[in-house]
Formats: sequence, C-alpha cells, structure tokens
Amino acid sequence: MRPQHLLQRKTRFIAFVAASIDGRISLSEKTLPRWTSKEDWRFLERSLSRADAVVVGRNTYAAAAKRLRKRNTFVLSNRLKAMARRGSVTFVNPANVDLASLLAKYKTVAVLGGGTVYRFMLESGLLDEIFITVEPLIFGHGKEMFVGGTVTTRVSLLSVKRLNRAGTLLLHYQINHQQL
Ligand SMILES: NC(=O)c1ccc[n+]([C@@H]2O[C@H](COP(=O)([O-])OP(=O)(O)OC[C@H]3O[C@@H](n4cnc5c(N)ncnc54)[C@H](OP(=O)(O)O)[C@@H]3O)[C@@H](O)[C@H]2O)c1
Repeated sequence: MRPQHLLQRKTRFIAFVAASIDGRISLSEKTLPRWTSKEDWRFLERSLSRADAVVVGRNTYAAAAKRLRKRNTFVLSNRLKAMARRGSVTFVNPANVDLASLLAKYKTVAVLGGGTVYRFMLESGLLDEIFITVEPLIFGHGKEMFVGGTVTTRVSLLSVKRLNRAGTLLLHYQINHQQL
C-alpha cells in the first residue's frame, strides 16, 4: 500500500539520469554530461517536450540555464528566504515551501538532477519513475547518482532498451514507495 499522501498526489515525478556503469553522473562539479550518447540526448529532448515542468538543483541549472530557461523550471536552493521568479524559472527553497503543493498543477514533472536533487526527491516521496541511461563507461570517480547515499528502495523494471551499437542501455523503473 502506498502512503496516503502519495495516493492523493496527481503529479507524476519522473527522474532522468545519465550514468556510467559504476553509477556516476559526472566527472566533476561543473561539467555538463557531454559524455552521453546522441541517442540519449534525443530521448531526453523527446521526454522533456512531454513534461509540464522541470526540477533541478542550483548547480545543474547553472550549467544548463540557457536550455532550461524556456521551460517551467523549478530551481532548488537552500540560500533563498523567499521564492523568486524570473520568467518561467522559479527559484525555491523546499525548506520554506511545500514543493508537492507548488507543483500540484503539473501532470508530469521531470526531475533532472543533479545528485543532491535525485536524493532529495526520492527521500521526500516525490519520485515515481526513473529512467537511467547507462553509458558504456567506467568513471571510477565523480558525482554519485544519489549524493552521500540514500534510503534503500525497491524498484520495478518497466522496460529495458539498447539505444545503439556502442551498448548504451535505457532502463526504466517504477519506484516502490513502501519501505523495505
Ligand atoms: N548525468 C546526469 O544525468 C546529470 C544530471 C544532472 C546533473 N548532472 C551533473 O551533476 C553535477 C551537479 O550535481 P550536484 O549534485 O552537484 O548539484 P545539483 O543537485 O544540481 O545542485 C546542488 C545544489 O542545489 C541546491 N539543492 C539541492 N537539493 C536541495 C534541497 N533539497 N533543498 C534546497 N536546495 C537544494 C543546493 O543549492 P545551494 O547551494 O544554493 O543551497 C545545492 O548546493 C554537474 O556536474 C552536472 O553536470 C548530471
């Protein structure tokens, strides 16, 4: 059984992650994930065109502001005392604002990271599905998918697809919200 507040929620939160086979999402703080395949970029663009809003952390927004500015984008930051709006971009501190209520008018929300945001959304019960594009690389170090670790969570595989000859895999999981 899903907890009551999750049963009532209409918004679907879907995370999109590109990762190395050792589960890293970038080699350094600032770099955009250019190591990803063109097939993954195409998949992400297609998926974003269907999303009503996007949630990102401040660092990811800083790295991709040009592309995110034209969307209904919600940027998380601890530094804000009050919510601030610039065009279609809203800067918000979830410690002061109920993010689920703020996003309740959207049907589909894409969660685009980075690692601290994936963790926060999972731990807040605001993640229903996750797409992980596994690129055929071992980073060996770099940013974790869930920065600093997270709660142990069972997921169900919805689909798996090979995107190209190089061996990029697209995994689609549903998050099971009940605790293990
Ligand atoms: N491979 C991929 O799919 C993928 C996806 C996205 C990003 N990335 C990469 O990941 C790196 C950035 O990841 P990151 O983990 O460092 O940064 P991030 O999650 O984009 O941003 C972290 C910042 O966001 C704010 N934040 C995050 N969670 C918050 C919360 N619950 N409440 C309030 N503020 C919150 C904080 O900003 P303040 O410091 O202002 O408080 C925090 O310092 C970049 O290299 C980027 O290219 C990769």
